Amino acid sequence: MYSRLVLLLCLNYGVVVEVLGQNSLGSRLLDLGQHNVFPESVTLSGFSSGGTFAQQLQISYSSLFSGIASFSHAYYRCGPGNGTEADYDNACTIVGNNPVAYDPDRALADIRRYEREGVIERTRNLRNKKLYLYAGSRSSFFNLDQSLGAIRVYEPLIQNIDAIKIRVQDAEQLLPTANFGRACRLNAQNSFFLGNCGFSGAYEALQFLLGDAIKQPPAPLRPNPRNFLRFDQTEFFYGIEGNGDHFMDTIGYIYVPRQCYQRRCFLHLYFHGCLTGREFNGTRHLVNSGYLELAEANDLIVLAPQAVGTGPGGENEIGCWDTYGLTGPNYVATQLGAQVTVVRNILTRILGGDGFQRQNPSQGQSTLNGIGGY
Ligand SMILES: *[C@@H]1O[C@H](CO)[C@@H](O)[C@H](O)[C@H]1NC(C)=O
Ligand SMILES: *[C@@H]1O[C@H](CO)[C@@H](O)[C@H](O)[C@H]1NC(C)=O
Repeated sequence: MYSRLVLLLCLNYGVVVEVLGQNSLGSRLLDLGQHNVFPESVTLSGFSSGGTFAQQLQISYSSLFSGIASFSHAYYRCGPGNGTEADYDNACTIVGNNPVAYDPDRALADIRRYEREGVIERTRNLRNKKLYLYAGSRSSFFNLDQSLGAIRVYEPLIQNIDAIKIRVQDAEQLLPTANFGRACRLNAQNSFFLGNCGFSGAYEALQFLLGDAIKQPPAPLRPNPRNFLRFDQTEFFYGIEGNGDHFMDTIGYIYVPRQCYQRRCFLHLYFHGCLTGREFNGTRHLVNSGYLELAEANDLIVLAPQAVGTGPGGENEIGCWDTYGLTGPNYVATQLGAQVTVVRNILTRILGGDGFQRQNPSQGQSTLNGIGGY
């Protein structure tokens, strides 16, 4: 999806690029271990298709998460879900050739059905859970109805208006930051889909989700490259239904502040968007997103699993998360979804294993082995 726009927008805006982890190829991959985290306060967020995917993961395993933030996204279970990019675009984005808007009430009806079928957890887990939404009125990919359609899906489940916070800005398709990227209204493709919008989306969202436990990082604070780790995602490729396609990268990222080896920390999952995974610009979206400073300044571990695209000619050339049935029809938004399964396997390792575990016994705490070299 979006490939037409991508071709049109290849201008060089000369952004200042900070590279963390450029020399990462030499360092050994981390075997992800268990971490000491507050199990009742695991949160998640995502940008663009990563925001939509975060909704799929949360609704599939609603008991595992205490809150969610979604930036510049579509809503859960939008579109026909048959793996055809063009049909998804028509139903859920504004880049389709023949747009016919999808109705969020159909997504809600699917949720009710999935719940009856037992392929998602009980939706009562979502009551009073926190939801933060960010949408840009100038997005080239989603209109406000599409992004804010998430309210119509979630509000009947959360049933508490005070648990929902929404920010709409005159912004392009981007993750808002306090100081990185081009001005908020401008196309952000050449700044890794990060835009300078006068506030940090990462901070505002996590502050809303976790409250006073989250402090704004002091301005000069930078992420510590030794705390930024690459882990092997391949050992989590098990338990996948269907033909086994999952479009997960072999490598994922995790940021573990030093103090989180000594005391209990919060765990947050962040999902990149289309064109912002490792295969495109390595760590640059993540490093400049604001999430890593937030982790460094707080007792917060940030886990950033990585998806990959199909490559040229496939149904996902630009490396979006699967929100439309690419990895198998029908079940992409439930516990049977391939990417939902892999991320759940990762989460199981971090939280300390249990009944989910089907192979690879837990290997203890992650050893410090930073990406370094920036
Ligand atoms: C996918 O769904 C769309 C819209 O319902 C339909 O037109 C199209 O034929 C479907 N494609 C496949 C491969 O089933
Ligand atoms: C980001 O990746 C894309 C394609 O993967 C490439 O065209 C672009 O030059 C990269 N941007 C930077 C600043 O390296």
